[in-house]
Amino acid sequence: ASSPLWAGRFEQPMDAAAWALNASLSVDRRLALVDVRVNQVWAEALEEAGVLSAAERAALVAGLETLRQEFQSGNFVFQPTDEDIHTAVERRLRELVGPLGGKIATGRSRNDLVATDLRLWLMEQLGALEGALLEVQKALLDQAEASGDLYLPGYTHLQRAQPVLLAHWWLAYFWPLERDRQRLGDLYPRIAVMPMGAAALAGSGFPIDREHLARRLGFLAVASNSLDAVADRDFAAEFLFVAAMLGIHLSQLAEMVILFCSQEFGFLEIPDAFATGSSLMPQKKNPDLFELTRAKAGTLLGHLTALLAVLKGLPLAYNKDLQEDKAQVFGAMDTLLSVLPVLAAAIRALRVRAERMQGAVSAELMATDLADYLVEQGLPFREAHAVVGQVVRLALARGQSLDALDQEALLAIHPLLDERALAILQPRHSLARRNLSGGSGPLAVRTQLHAARAALLQR
Ligand code: ARG
Repeated sequence: ASSPLWAGRFEQPMDAAAWALNASLSVDRRLALVDVRVNQVWAEALEEAGVLSAAERAALVAGLETLRQEFQSGNFVFQPTDEDIHTAVERRLRELVGPLGGKIATGRSRNDLVATDLRLWLMEQLGALEGALLEVQKALLDQAEASGDLYLPGYTHLQRAQPVLLAHWWLAYFWPLERDRQRLGDLYPRIAVMPMGAAALAGSGFPIDREHLARRLGFLAVASNSLDAVADRDFAAEFLFVAAMLGIHLSQLAEMVILFCSQEFGFLEIPDAFATGSSLMPQKKNPDLFELTRAKAGTLLGHLTALLAVLKGLPLAYNKDLQEDKAQVFGAMDTLLSVLPVLAAAIRALRVRAERMQGAVSAELMATDLADYLVEQGLPFREAHAVVGQVVRLALARGQSLDALDQEALLAIHPLLDERALAILQPRHSLARRNLSGGSGPLAVRTQLHAARAALLQR
């Protein structure tokens, strides 16, 4: 009985498989509630523009209200002829209010409607995403605060380098997420630009007050060019970049947790509630959730590249290629909203194995401090570096730790290597030297913890 909205000029019905490819309802039905809202406000704009009488506007808004309830209660019945959410809403509205329902389509197109809907949807969801991200940041911060003065080896090239405070290490994962949260905020004003009124491409043929319409829908601005308005998906690409960047940060954290939970490191332990077992090897305890977090970064990167590839060669203005945008945006949002809460809880639950961490800080990790000490005694750093290099070589040759070398052997390398020099090889001493701002020293880290707390309270 019903045919596509655009069936007028066609003689043949659409091929069934072609219809299935063309339809986007399975993806864009998630826009149902925003679509209803935009339709309601559009009815008001049409009244203001003199297209609808007050009674017509009221009937349309009331019909749309029924639709909203049907969507909210899950009673809305989609029809096989519903090509996308916009056609479904219009079709149902016409069933509810009769031919008057057809007036809602005046002076607009699905091209400006879909871009408006997607922007609104994203504007609404960003709050949930930020909230979920905040929980991961809080978990990291709480771990940092609970770390006290514990230290562990810091690594470069995954080789033990210098001691760092565990709190400093946790916070090194906090700040990237803080940047991601800022990026989400920065992006908002570019999402909140309203395409509605652009119609198909050239602008509505009716005198719509777009500024008023934008304010009513919660947009911050109105798109300046109708061609650009329906073609612009920068906001989606930017969101997908932030999502991918965030995913990569989470992946890097997950990778480090996985390493640290291996028997070889043994620095962290995943409690049972966030670990998995093996169907074959009874002894296994696996970090699957962290591995999935690592993998999801790839999925998120895929969403970003998929959309950029879709956009790359598009001529102005709307092209059906753009229909593929929503799967990427929804996919990225779903991925993050499923990962972030689990990760927040799992980070909180991680157990720190202090004796393993601190035990891994052997005297060699203070070699730089020994060189610094010689600098303080007047040696140029290059020379000091070479002297300590000889000390390390001797220790390696003897199979001894740096701090186990006898005084005689050290003095033979350099007269400044007396017992005062040996006292330098202490992790606490190394840390205490690093209280410059941003450093790993206990005082600097205390300041950093305050700064991280303060960052969370903003916005
Ligand atoms: N479902 C379409 C989309 O997601 C709506 C716009 C269709 N417009 C058109 N002229 N075919 O982009």
